[in-house]
Amino acid sequence: MKIRVLGSAAGGGFPQWNCNCHNCHRLRHNTMNGKARTQSSIAVSTDNKNGIRATGIKAILLIDSQIDHTTGLLMLREGKPLDVYCTEMVKQDLSSGFPIFNMLGDYCTINHHNIPHDGSSFEIPGINDLRLYTQALKSKAPPYSPHRHDPHDGDNIGVIIEQISTGKKVFYSPGLGEIESHVMAAMLAADCIMVDGTFWTDDEMVTQGISHKKAREIGHLPQSGSGGMIEVLNSVPTARKILIHINNTNPILDDDSVQRKQLDAAGIEVAYDGLEIDL
Ligand code: MLT
Ligand code: MN
Ligand code: ZN
Repeated sequence: MKIRVLGSAAGGGFPQWNCNCHNCHRLRHNTMNGKARTQSSIAVSTDNKNGIRATGIKAILLIDSQIDHTTGLLMLREGKPLDVYCTEMVKQDLSSGFPIFNMLGDYCTINHHNIPHDGSSFEIPGINDLRLYTQALKSKAPPYSPHRHDPHDGDNIGVIIEQISTGKKVFYSPGLGEIESHVMAAMLAADCIMVDGTFWTDDEMVTQGISHKKAREIGHLPQSGSGGMIEVLNSVPTARKILIHINNTNPILDDDSVQRKQLDAAGIEVAYDGLEIDL
């Protein structure tokens, strides 16, 4: 299976258009060793598709209804109907608070397919050799969702994508606020883990004077400190470990930072746009 990182940043992208934080400022002025990044998503395939104005996209799986994870659908409007796989909760948000499903009804149209959030598996017709397992996670529905402060299972999911013929598995979860036991099990079963790399510290946006929001409050487990993502990933012995959905305030975006060296020492990679993974 081939995985290509289409985007590796969090909501604002990197640099963020209106942001002058330490990272955004330095990247814009070419004074930092780092890469620009767009919002997080991955492409997964087991074969190659060709043809003029053909699509290589058989299906789209949404892991939540956040703007950064769904707005890209608008860019696919010229194509044929889009087969979109998401939970009932996500479908509701995208038909009401952010009615992108309704909007696209006047362009390519959306075929919605409901998916489980209890870890059970399914396959997608027309995609050979892949099986998916989707499970509810503790993170956050977007601000416009009726569930922002009233969490429902299925607001956010993680997905294990397995190549049936090889048994290789990737676990993808760009928004992850809490490591429940089923999340740990998914990490232990995976050959490659691509998880929430949003913030280094819980109060990163507060100390940089950017926002009053803390990482955990908005559904993201920070990397450093006790119970943080580094500690979690350290307890997984073998998988390839990659952080994705990295906020522009996060010092790990600086390839020369001490925080980045800490990740290197722990064998944890930082995703970048265009990164290709062969599993
Ligand atoms: C998040 O991951 O918390 C959101 O994408 C934030 C946002 O949309 O600004
Ligand atoms: Mn996000
Ligand atoms: Zn910034």
